[in-house]
Amino acid sequence: MTDTQHIRISPSILAADFLHLGRDLEAIHDADYVHIDVMDGHFVPNLTYGTTIVEAASRATDVPLDVHMMVTNPDETALWYAEAGADLITVHIEAVRDLPALASELRGRGVGVGVVLNPATPVQAVADSIDDVDVVLVMSVNPGFGGQGFIESTYGKVRELRRLIDEAGSPAIIEVDGGVGPANAEALARAGADMLVAGSAIFRAEDPAAMIAELRARAAVGLAARGE
Ligand code: DX5
Ligand code: ZN
Repeated sequence: MTDTQHIRISPSILAADFLHLGRDLEAIHDADYVHIDVMDGHFVPNLTYGTTIVEAASRATDVPLDVHMMVTNPDETALWYAEAGADLITVHIEAVRDLPALASELRGRGVGVGVVLNPATPVQAVADSIDDVDVVLVMSVNPGFGGQGFIESTYGKVRELRRLIDEAGSPAIIEVDGGVGPANAEALARAGADMLVAGSAIFRAEDPAAMIAELRARAAVGLAARGE
């Protein structure tokens, strides 16, 4: 995950039509990842789907699966998702008990590992975890629901995290999730984001594939301007 030359786009199927999930996955076959939001009704005030959908998606698409676990017990359940076909599994720093142990189990199975920060959690909370992970995911909304407004203070957090990762000489990439769309893709990439999750922006667009291309193009402008 060291290629920072292009910004990865990970459409969140939370905004897809679940009665036509195969069709919606086909519509985003050009994406870099498919973002799958696992919510347990405890860590967040909403309940979504589990391994069944991950298995079904892994049969239906060749696009790598980015599984975002919003659960209280990722240490006990993350391996289920590795078995189900996840390519990247992200767990919250507010929930995980032993990230180094979980990360080494997942990496041993060839699965990428990410750590997630809620909007209220400071960047420093993951400072000691950078070497254990491939991805740091910054939430730009309070997790639980799609379609929320982007929290503007995310830019400062992404910049701070970018510095931390670069100073550590780590290849970890920065993912941003929540309220992402054409209005902020460029600024996020410029601040240091490498991977953008978008649910409503992509699946509510008339042409999801064209929206992926637009997000990529806008992010490429931000990436080119990074550090200026
Ligand atoms: C929120 C989820 C997000 C959500 C993003 O808890 O983690 O992945 O699907 O949806 P949008 O892009 O609509 O904010
Ligand atoms: Zn998510």
